[in-house]
Amino acid sequence: MDEILEIKPERIENDFKILETFTDPEAPWTRRAFSLQNKEARKWLADQFRAAGLDVYNDAASNLIGRRGGDGDQVFMMGSHSDTVIEGGRFDGIVGVLGALEIARCLQDSDIELSLPLEIVDFTCEEPTVPISPVGSRIIAGDITQKDLEGVITPFGETIHKAIDDLGGDSSNISKAKRALGQIAGYLELHIEQGAVLEKEELAAGIVTAIAGPCRGTVQFIGQPEHAGATPMPDRKDALVAAAELVIAIEKIVTTTGMSEENVGTVGWMNVSPNMINVVPGQVDMSVEVRSTDLESLVLVRKSLEEEVEKISEKRKIESKLTWDHLEDPVPLPLFMQDVVKSAFTDLSIPIKYLPSRASHDAARIAPITPAGMVFIRCLEGKSHCPEEWTSMDDIVLGIRLLGQSLLRLNENFLKNKKG
Ligand code: GLV
Ligand code: MN
Ligand code: MN
Repeated sequence: MDEILEIKPERIENDFKILETFTDPEAPWTRRAFSLQNKEARKWLADQFRAAGLDVYNDAASNLIGRRGGDGDQVFMMGSHSDTVIEGGRFDGIVGVLGALEIARCLQDSDIELSLPLEIVDFTCEEPTVPISPVGSRIIAGDITQKDLEGVITPFGETIHKAIDDLGGDSSNISKAKRALGQIAGYLELHIEQGAVLEKEELAAGIVTAIAGPCRGTVQFIGQPEHAGATPMPDRKDALVAAAELVIAIEKIVTTTGMSEENVGTVGWMNVSPNMINVVPGQVDMSVEVRSTDLESLVLVRKSLEEEVEKISEKRKIESKLTWDHLEDPVPLPLFMQDVVKSAFTDLSIPIKYLPSRASHDAARIAPITPAGMVFIRCLEGKSHCPEEWTSMDDIVLGIRLLGQSLLRLNENFLKNKKG
């Protein structure tokens, strides 16, 4: 199929330049969900969606949605997220949102109507700014219900209810944002790889086969705060030493021989109490996160981690509690969607490369209710979630062309199946 969308690189470059100005002035490339910068960026994005001829609305989950192509329950959907982690980079999520916007503009420029309405989405709070993240895509899939919002507070000290409402949602009726199975006829997302597979193979783009399941929780060790000078070593119940043992244990567990090489494990934050130089740490609260694209291995890792917490706590005679906040299984992307994306690669004469995603995406969260497909583009040295995150404009433009062509192929496929 010929490429008929006329992607305009200058427009895209300009969007990136403007969107990146909505950042925390103290920490470049920071636009956390529900922050002032997130709200301001959303206003700008809504204006761009409107200028692309889209009908703009916020659903009850405060997802920002631009819609083209009239009424009807069933839609094609494309999107990603514009929120970031702290100093989290300029491309993670953003290429997917701005890419979808550029395609909406191209459809408008050439007056192309698809066989279904198209919705482009900036999903609310994809990054783990709150423990129930990703918020917007999970609500669409019905995976977060009203009860799950109870007690959730943002880092800005607001209830998640207020935060969702301030972004234009309706936090007391989030089920209104839920889509039924089949209502989204297909979902496409463009994203940076966040790893170095493509770069090492000197490839600009790839087709995603599966998305690793992040499993996130918190561990609490409660020992005894005591005088750091007067308490002999054998008498201590030091919660931080227990936590340190767990950090090392997690590294060992995920790299044990025989486990999948796809496993990763991280302790990303830790609160130490009372956090004073002359007091033995009495309490530590820490995050634990393990991921894999291999389900069997992921289940084993979770079990070993639980056992390790018990072991450390018994050995050191201190209390412990492990709470899993969120367990995900790896998500294989349907072969039919991989084929849709592959045909776009073929149309544009781009070499075919399949690869799994070790990072997670909104695509994984809405995959239970719609066939999802993803295009990856390479990023410099695989770096992401850091200020050094970088992707060239040439690769972004190619990614957007592939996303647009995938949408046209999805549309063609839908029509064929409809005719039978
Ligand atoms: C999303 O950014 C993730 O943590 O994979
Ligand atoms: Mn991210
Ligand atoms: Mn992302």
